[in-house]
Parts: sequence; structure tokens; C-alpha cells
Amino acid sequence: MQSGEKLAQISIAPCALVLGVALLASSAVLAQSPASPGQTLAFDRSKGNCLTCHDIAGGDSPGNVGPQLSDMKKRYPDRKELAAIIFDETKRNPETVMPPFGRNLILTTDEIESVIDFLYAR
Ligand code: HEC
Repeated sequence: MQSGEKLAQISIAPCALVLGVALLASSAVLAQSPASPGQTLAFDRSKGNCLTCHDIAGGDSPGNVGPQLSDMKKRYPDRKELAAIIFDETKRNPETVMPPFGRNLILTTDEIESVIDFLYAR
């Protein structure tokens, strides 16, 4: 091996270490970044309260009355369909225990849109 190559390897190692530490630090900051408005609404027990019935990534002590809310963008590419479920699931299923958040004015249509933004990231 040429001595020049060796020198290059020696100086790359500490750089990679510094970069690794910097990446770790920035991901820790991201993990602690404040919740989005949609997440706050979805997790708030007096608003969306979705966690009482649904397992949603990042939420504490979820219930399992309803299905897990994951891969939402893939499963519900049509935003309107998702909005309709949250607005009033009794339209699809008259027997559902899921509250009609829009019809009962628990969430405004703007708040439902924020919740969808949040769900689309899950
Ligand atoms: C009291 C329990 C309860 C609460 C609270 C609740 N849900 Fe549901 N949800 C259900 C049940 C049960 C279903 C299954 C479908 C049905 O009953 O028609 C469901 C279905 C859904 C579906 C369709 C899921 C799928 O996999 O296709 C979505 C989306 C959904 N809920 C979103 C929400 C959101 C968003 C909130 C909060 C704003 C919420 N739910 C709050 C009980 C609940």
C-alpha cells in the first residue's frame, strides 16, 4: 500500500466518527420535536381520542377496539374516503362504535384534515 493511501485512511476514520455522532444527535432532536397539530388532536383524550380504540405508532397505551392505523397512505390513497370515515363512520357501518367526529362536532373539518396529515405519516 502506498503511504499516501494509508494517510488518507487515517484521516477519514475520525471524520466518519464525527459525522456519525452528528447524525445521532440530530435524530435525537427529531425524535423530541414537538407533536404535529394532527398528532395532538388524535392523541388528545378530549378531542380525537383515537388511541382509546386504535394502535397508532408513537402513542401510549393504545386500545384495540378498532384496527391498527398504519400504512394509511397506502391503504387510503383517496383522502376523501379517509375524511368520510373520520367524519361519520356510521355511514359505512351503522353498527360502529367509532364516534362520528365530524357530524357530532367533536372535530372541525380542518381538524379532521390535520388528523389525516398525521395519519398519512403513519
Ligand atoms: C370508540 C372507539 C373508536 C374511536 C375513539 C375511534 N375509532 Fe376509528 N374505528 C373504530 C372501529 C371499531 C373501527 C372498525 C370499523 C367499524 O367499526 O366500522 C374503526 C375504523 C377506523 C378506520 C378504518 C380503519 C381501517 O383499517 O380500515 C379509520 C381510518 C379510523 N377508524 C380512524 C379513526 C380516527 C382518526 C380516530 C380519532 C379521531 C378514531 N378512528 C377513533 C373505533 C374507534
